[in-house]
Amino acid sequence: MAILKVDNVSFNYPDKNIIKDFSFEVEKGDFVCIVGTNGTGKSTLLKLILNLLKPDKGNIYIDGENSKNFKSFNKISYVSQKATDFNSGFPATVTEVVSAGLYPKYGFFKFISKKEREKKVLNALKTVGMAEYSDRIIGRLSGGQQQRVFIAKALVNNPSIIFLDEPTVGIDVKAVDSICCLLGDLNKKFGITIIMVTHDISSIIYHSNKILQISDDGNVRVVSSEEFGKETIGKHVHHHN
Ligand SMILES: Nc1ncnc2c1ncn2[C@@H]1O[C@H](COP(=O)(O)OP(=O)(O)OP(=O)(O)O)[C@@H](O)[C@H]1O
Ligand SMILES: [Mg+2]
Repeated sequence: MAILKVDNVSFNYPDKNIIKDFSFEVEKGDFVCIVGTNGTGKSTLLKLILNLLKPDKGNIYIDGENSKNFKSFNKISYVSQKATDFNSGFPATVTEVVSAGLYPKYGFFKFISKKEREKKVLNALKTVGMAEYSDRIIGRLSGGQQQRVFIAKALVNNPSIIFLDEPTVGIDVKAVDSICCLLGDLNKKFGITIIMVTHDISSIIYHSNKILQISDDGNVRVVSSEEFGKETIGKHVHHHN
């Protein structure tokens, strides 16, 4: 069964038609990149899937559950566009930021002990290679380090799916590659399904297996990374399984 099914979804902002009759499926363990030029509706599509916006038409199912009455918020997590774009004087520590991910916004709050919480936070920070920064102030880390912390926050509940909206914007090429490798590892080692909006397609295509392309005329299609690589970068893409 598909872990995500978008079934004939349309959505318009009051003054703008964006998403029209989108249908596609994502399988468990997929690493999907959403690509398209600015303003094609990539962020809007993620917000529809996450039930932050309601489709005008059609349905979205996550793990078989209709997003309209989705309750299992511990199964999914979301790193929004510009997650790191806050005042650099923001006083929270790395540990505090990651701990905030332990409480899904909606849904059932399950009590866990302080010790258990600390263990989950530390494990998530270890996974992203940021354990030694746990007491640092988030606003004083580099953009790439901050993005790792936000990925740790997204990981802390052991989700089945992580949605990321342009997690590599504004960081240097080397940091982009290391974030891409981290996401590739999360996908392959832990089997987490990843759905990510990106413009850094040449760095991530080696880790993803599918590309969801929204074209300027508002159509959507899903192709394998191999196929997309041949079409766009003219390079053969090895997908490591
Ligand atoms: N709240 C809103 N109200 C009205 N129009 C909006 C709203 N949010 C976005 N739009 C418009 O809808 C279109 C799609 O926006 P969206 O943010 O989904 O694009 P995107 O593909 O994520 O672009 P980018 O690559 O720049 O992040 C844009 O033309 C944008 O101006
Ligand atoms: Mg966007």
